Amino acid sequence: QTTNGTNAAEAGSGGGKLVVGFAQIGQESGWRDAETASIKETFESDSNFELKFSDAQGKQENQIKAIRTFIAQKVDAIGLAPVVESGWETVLKEAKDAGIPVFLLDRGITKGNEDLYTSFIGSDFILEGQNAAKWMVEELGADAKVNIVQLEGTVGASAANDRKKGFEDAIKDKANYKIVYSQTGDFTRAKGKEVMEAYLKQSKDIQVVYAHNDDMALGAIQAIEEAGLKPGTDIKIIGVDGVKAAFEAIAAGKMNVTVECNPLLGPQLKQAILDQKAGKTLDKWIKSEEDVYAGQKAIDALPNRKY
Ligand code: AHR
Repeated sequence: QTTNGTNAAEAGSGGGKLVVGFAQIGQESGWRDAETASIKETFESDSNFELKFSDAQGKQENQIKAIRTFIAQKVDAIGLAPVVESGWETVLKEAKDAGIPVFLLDRGITKGNEDLYTSFIGSDFILEGQNAAKWMVEELGADAKVNIVQLEGTVGASAANDRKKGFEDAIKDKANYKIVYSQTGDFTRAKGKEVMEAYLKQSKDIQVVYAHNDDMALGAIQAIEEAGLKPGTDIKIIGVDGVKAAFEAIAAGKMNVTVECNPLLGPQLKQAILDQKAGKTLDKWIKSEEDVYAGQKAIDALPNRKY
């Protein structure tokens, strides 16, 4: 049943509105803004839906509050981009007990809680970390001596945990590839810059910066330039996300590669909600298709980037 009392299949075909509550993390990055825009555009342009959107300003407790409000409002479906992996059991059980399907978007929650949500829609973050490492080793050569600074995402976020794991596992048998410093930059440009500045005061013997997102990579680029070094040349810069600003930095020769992570998840979320309401069986993980962009390939793709 929808909030209008019509049945869900009718609502999806114009009989009434399906009300969707979305608990967003915040506005920490260009990627996040693109994801928010995709969700808003998708649901606000479709008269079969009503979107209730909440911005948690980076705080899990605000996301939990928003979910409880959605439950009290008896929404038809809840979308959640969980800021961190752990600590969702109680509130997601409350949604489940209220009969409201929950869809996880872009980030996952602690394993073992699969019964608490319908589907996870998003990327393979471990693969993204592996792809970053693969590009690095192919570019610099298996025998190169490489000191790496890793700029980690938000502590406890699946995107940070898995991008770290994928990358570190991929180089664990290569003793000459050394992570000399690894610190959270909280997925923001300002903190990426701050962490990089701090490390550059200790040492400039760095060959690679691996940032868990493009915003932190862009912050690091600023810090490297201010320290009198050339990002992209003296220090190779690897980012994740594929935001337009990263493509522009690659075109300007200041960044080397971005591992794509698709934020345009609104249409997939809408389809998943409709499928669930129509009684279809959904994949537990609806995976995004992604690519890796460096050099001329990035320059060629720049005019058509959507985010
Ligand atoms: O969960 C996806 C990550 O969150 C993106 O890589 C990052 O930019 C964002 O803030």
